[in-house]
Amino acid sequence: MAMVNNPPLGLPEVPQPEHNRLTRDRIALGRKLFYDRRLSLNDTFSCAMCHIPEQGFTSNELATAVGIEGRSVRRNTPTLYNAAYSKRLFHDGREFMLEQQIWGPLLAKNEMGMPSVGFVINKIAGLDDYQGLFEKAYGEPVSMLTLGRALASYQRTLVSADSAFDRWYYGKDPSALSSSAQKGYQLFVGRAGCSSCHLLNQGYALFTDDQLHNTGIGYRESMAKNSTSEKVQLAPGVFVDVDTDIIRRVGKQPMADVGLYEITEDPNDRWKYKTPGLRNVALTAPYMHNGSIGDLMGVVDFYDGGGVSNELLDPRIHPLGLTAEEKRNLVDFLKSLTGSNVGVLVSDAFAAPIGDTGASYQNDDTDNRTREAAHVH
Ligand code: HEC
Ligand code: HEC
Repeated sequence: MAMVNNPPLGLPEVPQPEHNRLTRDRIALGRKLFYDRRLSLNDTFSCAMCHIPEQGFTSNELATAVGIEGRSVRRNTPTLYNAAYSKRLFHDGREFMLEQQIWGPLLAKNEMGMPSVGFVINKIAGLDDYQGLFEKAYGEPVSMLTLGRALASYQRTLVSADSAFDRWYYGKDPSALSSSAQKGYQLFVGRAGCSSCHLLNQGYALFTDDQLHNTGIGYRESMAKNSTSEKVQLAPGVFVDVDTDIIRRVGKQPMADVGLYEITEDPNDRWKYKTPGLRNVALTAPYMHNGSIGDLMGVVDFYDGGGVSNELLDPRIHPLGLTAEEKRNLVDFLKSLTGSNVGVLVSDAFAAPIGDTGASYQNDDTDNRTREAAHVH
């Protein structure tokens, strides 16, 4: 709450919609919901099991997410740090408000697997430990609106900045940033051209333009899908190459992903994805919409090589000719974007109660339950 009213150095004020101003009750309710596995069809999956607090509110071990009953999701879980500021949500930018975004994961068969909006509302309305909480926070019972508002309220508290970079750049402390990271910053806004998409503003930086661009990652994946074998994930981190003809015969189509085109059906929008903000990027590996790059040096190498060439590649992506030292400088700069308050936000997450089937849990063991829930995925 304090962080929302007084955002850390380097961030602007947290946007709050008129109908969903932040209050303690709303945040507490949203937090309870976010960690509650009963929001999934078979009581196994909470939001936090993909957006894992101590893994940068993403899943560090999975390139692409795994949902209810081990079903695979085609994209990488984005971090929720600073999602409060996003004007477009999801890698293809198809949603705009945190209040509405929740129906994506709740109703997806391969994420939380709930059959319908009404089913979700009825289920929560029937849980003893939620009695009175929506009324207290919103003056009305759980509904499509109040559920979205509560979850959005908790997520709006996950603001994180006051990094070494912020203390150097906005705080004007010359000793806050290593000289290598300072050189990296010069490259980022200069010759490497990163800041034309990952924007910095006067007084704050979100490191995104909230636009979608083609850097070639999606193109590369589409081409790989057209080949005769495909990597299939058997378990978290376990992949096998499978002949795609066999996959077709058993009825599972390879999952195509063409980015913004899926929303607009404009062929020029093929393989465009949202520019992610880069705060806390050292904590949120693996990278890109499909998790295809494992570490920050890999990302810098990707840009240095000019992305993946295709007829719709953004003209700002081209070979950079960086030296090995310059690449290290850029990586050091990216690593300097870790906020000083991530520890506080993670321990706050561990204090949240976890809903378990039929269990009327005690306050004293909620910590363990949270840990358990956050680790099972
Ligand atoms: C099975 C794993 C999984 C679960 C469970 C899950 N998410 Fe996600 N989340 C994802 C993935 C993957 C994406 C990106 C999907 C896409 O772009 O199509 C995403 C995207 C998002 C985004 C958009 C972030 C951005 O920067 O664009 C938000 C916000 C979000 N999830 C919140 C939630 C909330 C709230 C819940 C619980 C109601 C939840 N998620 C449950 C995996 C999950
Ligand atoms: C044309 C706009 C553009 C430029 C220029 C650009 N980026 Fe990006 N960046 C993107 C987009 C779009 C993505 C997401 C691509 C995807 O998901 O497939 C991205 C992803 C990333 C990621 C991964 C973040 C994550 O959470 O997955 C990092 C790190 C990154 N860029 C750093 C850089 C650096 C460093 C430079 C300069 C060398 C740079 N970018 C230049 C648009 C750009």
